[in-house]
Amino acid sequence: MGLPKQLQGLRIPVVGAPLFIISNPRLVIAQCTSGIVGAMPALNARPAEQLDEWLAEITETLSGWNRTHPDRPAAPFAINQIVHKSNDRLDHDMAVCAKYKVPVVITSLGARTDVNDAVHGWGGIVLHDIINNAFAHKAIDKGADGLIAVAAGAGGHAGVKSPFALVQEIREWFDGPLLLSGAMATGGSVLAAQAIGADLAYIGSAFIATDEARASDAYKQAIVAGTSDDIVYSSLFTGVHGNYLKPSIRNAGLDPDNLPESDPTKMNFGGGESAKKAWKDIWGCGQGIGAVKAVAPAASLVDRLAREYAAARARLCA
Ligand SMILES: Cc1cc2nc3c(=O)[nH]c(=O)nc-3n(C[C@H](O)[C@H](O)[C@H](O)COP(=O)(O)O)c2cc1C
Repeated sequence: MGLPKQLQGLRIPVVGAPLFIISNPRLVIAQCTSGIVGAMPALNARPAEQLDEWLAEITETLSGWNRTHPDRPAAPFAINQIVHKSNDRLDHDMAVCAKYKVPVVITSLGARTDVNDAVHGWGGIVLHDIINNAFAHKAIDKGADGLIAVAAGAGGHAGVKSPFALVQEIREWFDGPLLLSGAMATGGSVLAAQAIGADLAYIGSAFIATDEARASDAYKQAIVAGTSDDIVYSSLFTGVHGNYLKPSIRNAGLDPDNLPESDPTKMNFGGGESAKKAWKDIWGCGQGIGAVKAVAPAASLVDRLAREYAAARARLCA
């Protein structure tokens, strides 16, 4: 199956993954004008009314860019919706996405037919993120167009599956758009994702250490200084397992190597103040940060990924 038009013609096959609190219109615009799909969670706009202003800013800036850069038009953008019952903004945020005919909607933490139908109604596509093959089946059964396989080592909520196992199992039955995520921060990793059967890479943590990202300097510097040894996998902070930077856990007065388990009934993804506080103090991050050597503009990161991707291809084809 060919890729939908929203995922074609990118400079490199990469989607910038949505990052709670951190992604904002500046980062999305920088990603899209650099030639990759940029994304942000709807819940980052606060209060909810701000989402309308942000989508106006993104769509108008990208149209302006396309008028002045007809030779290298911006890539489409994506909005992430947390489709969990604790998200009481979903109806509002979907109505705003409908108004702007958001080209790509990324759904997480639940798959819903009505959400998928609504996006199809305005001509958009839905990519649903999953951590195992069973959830992948459910997402496609409910009408998602494509899948984001969140493999071991990914930042934020992440699974435990090897990308080799996950992509292989999904590709046995699914030939639609498949994105792979987890600890990718080099162009070589993007090519590797394609080699094992994914269409595109989905990269989050590396974009935290960019000028445009809405993260503190201390958080950005911890990513630059850190390696996979500085990442811990825990369910303590949100009720779902995810990867976090150990220094932020130490700063909060906890021992990252001896964390208790959490109570899953306390899950709350509504993006309320408690979730915001947890993600502000405890820094989500994937294992791939060893490749991030400096805080830089997002366009420089995309340039590096593109150079490395081309070099890796040339090396393998030589
Ligand atoms: C700080 C942080 C916040 C995240 N917030 C969200 C979110 O709001 N919604 C979502 O679907 N995924 C979220 N993710 C997951 C990413 O979209 C993506 O799956 C992940 O970053 C990919 O792995 P990588 O960080 O190793 O590149 C978050 C990840 C991080 C690191």
